[in-house]
Amino acid sequence: MRSAELDDFVERVSERTDIYSVVSQYVTLTQKGGRYWGCCPFHNEKTASFSVSPDKGLFYCFGCGAGGNVFKFLSLIENITYFEAVKLQAQRLGIDLPKKKSSPEQERRRREEKTLLKINELAQDFYHECLIKTARGSVGRKYLAARGITMETIKTFHLGLAPEEWDSLLKKLTRQGYTAPQLESVGLIIKKKSLSGYYDRFRERVMIPIADIFGHVVGFGGRVLTSENEETPKYLNTPETVLFNKRNLLFGLDKSNRAISSAGVAVVVEGYMDAISLFSAGITNVVATLGTAFTPEHAKLILRYARKIIFCYDSDEAGQRATIRALPVVQQTGAEVFVVKIPDGKDPDEFVRKHGKEAFKELIKNAVTLIDYRISYILTNTEHSTIQGKHRALQEILPVIVNVNNPITRDEYCKKIAIELLLDERLVKDEYIKLLKQERSSEPKKEVVVKETKHYGEEDLKIRMATEEILRMAWHEGDILDYVLMLLPPEIFNPYQREIISWLETCLKQERRPNKMSAAEELSEEANLELSRILMNGTDEFGQKEVALFEESLATLRQIVLMKEFYKLSSQAEKYIPDDEMTYNKTVKELIKIKEKVDNLKGNRTK
Ligand code: UTP
Ligand code: MN
Repeated sequence: MRSAELDDFVERVSERTDIYSVVSQYVTLTQKGGRYWGCCPFHNEKTASFSVSPDKGLFYCFGCGAGGNVFKFLSLIENITYFEAVKLQAQRLGIDLPKKKSSPEQERRRREEKTLLKINELAQDFYHECLIKTARGSVGRKYLAARGITMETIKTFHLGLAPEEWDSLLKKLTRQGYTAPQLESVGLIIKKKSLSGYYDRFRERVMIPIADIFGHVVGFGGRVLTSENEETPKYLNTPETVLFNKRNLLFGLDKSNRAISSAGVAVVVEGYMDAISLFSAGITNVVATLGTAFTPEHAKLILRYARKIIFCYDSDEAGQRATIRALPVVQQTGAEVFVVKIPDGKDPDEFVRKHGKEAFKELIKNAVTLIDYRISYILTNTEHSTIQGKHRALQEILPVIVNVNNPITRDEYCKKIAIELLLDERLVKDEYIKLLKQERSSEPKKEVVVKETKHYGEEDLKIRMATEEILRMAWHEGDILDYVLMLLPPEIFNPYQREIISWLETCLKQERRPNKMSAAEELSEEANLELSRILMNGTDEFGQKEVALFEESLATLRQIVLMKEFYKLSSQAEKYIPDDEMTYNKTVKELIKIKEKVDNLKGNRTK
């Protein structure tokens, strides 16, 4: 729970902050209508699509979709957290921070964590100096130069070299007053098994510091300099520590987040050396996992900056399998997922060194969608020259496309598969329909959900506009939500809108008025963006005109929902024709009822 004092503090800073004067320190703004416009600082653009609305206290970019209140702006532009942005603004306004009342235990832990981060930073400096300034660093310099890594990149990533000795880091840091148990707890040294004492974990390796999103060094990766000795692992990483958790870390994100948000896409590679190599070649919207599977936490980290994720894993068998495994994880998070297959060379590093930056960019441009990737993966990994082989391949592929909702896209896939497998198109479709029926009968409860799609068709656009209208109304008049949800299924709203709705309902229950401040703190990043955009697109007035718009939007959505139900039922009805006349007739009656409702809605609207 947050203290009232803290709330009061945020409130005070917020009251005295004018979004225009904050943003105009970073962006040149010109007035047009009630808003100010400028070139968006979060993506590359030449025409101004970034707007600030002082009376609403919001900014929104129509180009890249960045938006929110003044603290959101500060947190993005300064690359700090939301609360840090509040504090920064307080500082600028000369408002004192409320005294923190943390327990002595919390205080102790905070201090300890700070010390551990300091130790990592000192270790980073030690390795880095050793690489660039000392004679023993020359092996490392040679190694990196041979890999095409420039001095500039070495400095950007603070790359280093762990010398050959068993205790050079240990000595250096204990001399500076840090204890062996502290060094051990961040994984830099290891306790000797038989004797007393410790030794350095990393020796004779090129050192790659691994930072969290704020740029704090939380761990290291170390690569051997030669591949002669098969005994030692090629890479050695910091073990799991209080600071280092591979599930939550993406290498490079502290440096690439700006590039990722302005490109609108993050390229994910398997190894940090790949990320460094791409950076060195001038491709900067890159992150790398740390030798572990891609997790939902990873996806969420990226989604703070971009919706689109392109996997660019090694082209070997292991890399391709890792890609397949990563895909469903990411898909569930709502990201748009694409895959790049490297045609020549084992990994992104080799490719970019061989063919250059432009060729890599071309690869990225031609990234294929998830489904295309899965299909081609199956096609290349199954033997399908014989008729049995073709059927086996088909049985593997069809489940991949069974969830494609758009019938036209689905037809196209069937066509494509038929061509690839040299099968009759009709046969592919028949098999497809068989599978669809099986799926439906094995999962009778599975509803046809209105999926949010990114390429808006006419209907999607209608849904989008109408749902937004409804949410604008609900922002001012929470009471209408009951009525709306009685008439519409929640699936008609996209996941972020649903999050906003349930939050508005909570506010209503707790008898507090929703405001942008609490929204920014209590809603997820994505839902907040959605909300900012929605509020930005409407007026603040709520008169007859707005009420009429709301009614019309509700009717539009009702009609869409009913028509969907109608189509679903009618395709079911067809199935009953031969052997279940009673159910068929019942279904038809229901269909007629739905049709009447739709016509009623239409009639009301043309009146
Ligand atoms: P790769 O074997 O693909 O290495 O491992 P790479 O990135 O191509 O490295 P170079 O080009 O040979 O230097 C990919 C990732 O798997 C983890 C590391 O995180 C590495 O970046 N890994 C690999 C280990 O943790 N230990 C190993 O022994 C090997
Ligand atoms: Mn490699």
